Amino acid sequence: MTIKRNIDIARLTTFGIHAKAAAVVTYSSLEELEQIIADKSLPTPIVHIGEGSNLLFTDDFPGTLLINEGDSVEFIGLDDNEILVTADAGIPMDLLCGFAAEFDFWGIENLSGIPGSVGAAVVQNVGAYGVEFKDVFVEADAIEVATGKHRKFTLDEMNYGYRYSLLKSQEWKGRYFIYRVKFRLSEVPNPKLDYGNLRSSVGESPTLAEIRKAIIAMRDSKLPNPSEYGSAGSFFKNPVVSHSEFERIVAENPELEIPSYPAPDGIKIPAAFLIDKCGLKGHQLGNASVWHKQPLVIVNHTGNATGSEILALERLIVATVEKRFGITLHPEVEHI
Ligand code: EPU
Repeated sequence: MTIKRNIDIARLTTFGIHAKAAAVVTYSSLEELEQIIADKSLPTPIVHIGEGSNLLFTDDFPGTLLINEGDSVEFIGLDDNEILVTADAGIPMDLLCGFAAEFDFWGIENLSGIPGSVGAAVVQNVGAYGVEFKDVFVEADAIEVATGKHRKFTLDEMNYGYRYSLLKSQEWKGRYFIYRVKFRLSEVPNPKLDYGNLRSSVGESPTLAEIRKAIIAMRDSKLPNPSEYGSAGSFFKNPVVSHSEFERIVAENPELEIPSYPAPDGIKIPAAFLIDKCGLKGHQLGNASVWHKQPLVIVNHTGNATGSEILALERLIVATVEKRFGITLHPEVEHI
């Protein structure tokens, strides 16, 4: 376990924004996590972070940031060609996608290249190219921050939706820290190729390794290279509107062919399209800018952006899209 005080957290988030945290604590075992939770002298609030790939610190942070450095992963073969994976929650999602590809275990290949830890994947139901983490999730082991009590969260309890779980709801947010995750993969090939032009780029019966390679290439072609530009991936969620709202938008914009996808509670429109049509692609505000290849992403363009500059650009995008289309975008990135 390490406890460091008054730390610059630029390296702890993928945005690379400079801000100070009163304390940063790392741990690598359940016993250490229990000690940390029992230690009432740490600055509060205590916020558990993963790889910091979905976080925006808008100012210095007066509390403690907690990081799981446990590195245990276990693959257990079950009777029915299924593999049960048990992983410490801090393990990067893409490391697990890489292992799965090496062993030819199917289920998370479409999530290749997503930054962030597997614990964060559980909480925010990460998704890409037609697969969401909920599709493989089995259960997570968690500890209650206020009491140190243990409990499991099963698939049924998690109430998963698009970039949503029970643990993101107002009532449950921040109450539990997840320290271990169980999910299920399969030895039986099951390519999911329906998203965008994935099928045309890999053919009808690709190997798992071919899918992983194609997904990483697609992401690399659109998303900023993290070693060059700090970002948090998609900054906004794709909005879901009602059918009548969608008809209104189509009627008001006869010159546009508005892309749309059916969603459980309405119609999903790509936020990237709306931002693009507002002419904001590449738009720069101070040290922050809208990524020129995928306008759903805000980048720390110069490396010197502050949290408030990113926030100012976020507000400009929301206001512009609202004025042009009457749709309110909501950030996917969590603000701290
Ligand atoms: N589009 C434009 N202009 C652009 C780029 C995209 O109009 O410059 C429109 C196009 O109509 C395109 C559509 O947006 O078809 C969708 O674009 P894309 O396939 O890149 O997906 P997205 O909806 O923008 C979502 C996820 C990504 C994930 C991709 C692929 C969210 C918030 N984002 O983006 O996730 O990689 O699909 O599945 O759902 C992330 O969460 O950080 C992330 C990168």
